[in-house]
Amino acid sequence: MRILSGIQPSGALHLGNYFGMMLPAIELQDKGEAFYFIANYHSMTSLFNAEERRKNSLDVALDFLACGLDPKKAVFWKQSDLPEVTELTWLLSTLTPMGLLERCTSYKDKTAKGLAASHGLFSYPVLMAADILLFDSNIVPVGRDQKQHVEVTRDIAIKFNEAYGQTFVVPEPQIRDEVAVVPGLDGQKMSKSYGNTIEIFGEEKATRKKIMSIVMDSRTPAEPKPDAEQNLAIKLLKLVAPTEVSKDFEDRLRAGGLGYGDLKKALFENHWNYFAAARVKRTELAANLDYVHQVLREGAARARSVGAKVLQRAKTAAGLN
Ligand code: ADP
Ligand code: TRP
Repeated sequence: MRILSGIQPSGALHLGNYFGMMLPAIELQDKGEAFYFIANYHSMTSLFNAEERRKNSLDVALDFLACGLDPKKAVFWKQSDLPEVTELTWLLSTLTPMGLLERCTSYKDKTAKGLAASHGLFSYPVLMAADILLFDSNIVPVGRDQKQHVEVTRDIAIKFNEAYGQTFVVPEPQIRDEVAVVPGLDGQKMSKSYGNTIEIFGEEKATRKKIMSIVMDSRTPAEPKPDAEQNLAIKLLKLVAPTEVSKDFEDRLRAGGLGYGDLKKALFENHWNYFAAARVKRTELAANLDYVHQVLREGAARARSVGAKVLQRAKTAAGLN
C-alpha cells in the first residue's frame, strides 16, 4: 500500500495541520510505503516572496522531522526537485474538464478572500492530481478541506484510464473524523489564512497569550455549562491532553465551578507539554541543517526512481513514445 501526502510551505504549521494531516501521515508510515513532500510549487499560487518560500520550506522540513517523520521509513522530498510532476500535470490537464475545476470550493474561497485569480491557482488541483498519480498512491491522508481535490484526482485518473487504457491507480482520501476540521482561536476552521492559528512550535509567551485571549461567553464560573463539549478550549484540550485530563476538565465545566481562565491555562500547559519532546528534537535538527538537506536530497532521488517510471507509463499510454 502506498500512502502519499503533501503540505504547502505557506507559513508556520499549526494544530490543524498537525492533527489533520501530519500526525495521521506519521502514524501511517508504519502501515505501508509512505511518500511525503513539501508542496513548494503549490505555494507559488498564494505566496509571492522567494525568501519566505525558502525559509518556510526548511521550516516545514524541520517541523515534520521533529514531529516524527522518519526518513528511514518515509520518503520525504521537496516537490520542485522532481520535474516529472510538472510534465505529468500537462498530460492530465488535457483531460481535465473546466467544469470540474470551476466547482472547486478552495479556488472560490481563495479568490473571494482576495487572492489573485491566476491560471496556476485555478489549475492547482491538476498539479495535485499529478503529485498523487505520479506515485501510484493508494491512500492520501488529509484534512477535510482537501477531500474535493482528491476526488478531482480520482475523476482525472478514471478519465485518463478510459481514454488511454489502464494507467493510473485511483486513490482514496483518508480523513479522520475526529480531527477533520480542527477549530481555530475564533471557532472557525484553524487556517493560516484566517489568522486564528495555534502554532506547533510558536514562541512560549506568544502562544500563552494567544490561548489566554480566546474569547468565551459571559457566564460566571459557578454556572453549570451543559454544553461543555461545545467549548472551544475543551475541543482543543481533547487533542493535546490525556483523555482522563480532558474528561475531568469537561466534567468540571459542565458541573460549574471551573473558570474559563483556569481552563485556558490548562490548555496552554497541555499544548506546551504535548510538543515538548518534538521541540527538543527540532532544536537539534536546526543545528544540523546539512542532515536535513541530505534527507530531502535522498528523498528526491528515491521519489524520482518511482515517479519517472509512472510518467513513462503514462507517456507510452498516450502515444508520446
Ligand atoms: P491552511 O488552511 O492553514 O493554509 P493548508 O491548506 O496548508 O492549511 O493545509 C495543510 C494540511 O493540513 C491539509 O491536509 C489540510 O487538510 C490540513 N489542515 C489544515 N487546517 C486544518 C484544520 N483546521 N483541521 C484539519 N486539518 C487541517
Ligand atoms: N493542496 C494540499 C494543501 O493545501 C497540499 C498538497 C499538494 C497535497 N499536493 C498534494 C496533499 C498531494 C495531498 C496530496 O494542503
